[in-house]
Amino acid sequence: MAKIMVLHGPNLNLLGTREPDIYGTDTLATINDSLLAQINASGNEVVCYQSNAEHELIDQIHVAKRDQVSYIIINPGAFTHTSIALRDAFLSVSIPFVEVHLSNVFSREEFRKHSCLSDIATGCVTGLGALGYNLAAEFVLSQLS
Ligand code: DQA
Repeated sequence: MAKIMVLHGPNLNLLGTREPDIYGTDTLATINDSLLAQINASGNEVVCYQSNAEHELIDQIHVAKRDQVSYIIINPGAFTHTSIALRDAFLSVSIPFVEVHLSNVFSREEFRKHSCLSDIATGCVTGLGALGYNLAAEFVLSQLS
């Protein structure tokens, strides 16, 4: 049984009511429940964590190393575009990860087109809404089996 960690960055706790025309109407709880069902059904373990604080997300990446997590799925929110510290955390632990965005970051403001993480991620899913998390999980499970 492998361990998978799902990390959600700032403001994603507000999903459901936050700019639903951009991010959809699914709540974070719905997304996590769906991932839990999908990953548990495959016989693997998943832990989901959301924080609005950069250092708490970094701490979780360190925890992932300690707990021998095999893969991370992360929607870093706005930290995607700014956080060299998150990038360094992933480089420090050498845990493979998939970057997920609900919205298509390439069809929005210029500043959203740059990611501090994409080039060190295994891959990215962007613009497919909440389903993007499940597609990322399907990929991760295929890598672990
Ligand atoms: C986001 C896109 C980011 O640009 C934004 O700051 C978010 C959400 C997405 O899921 O589409 O908070 O990561």
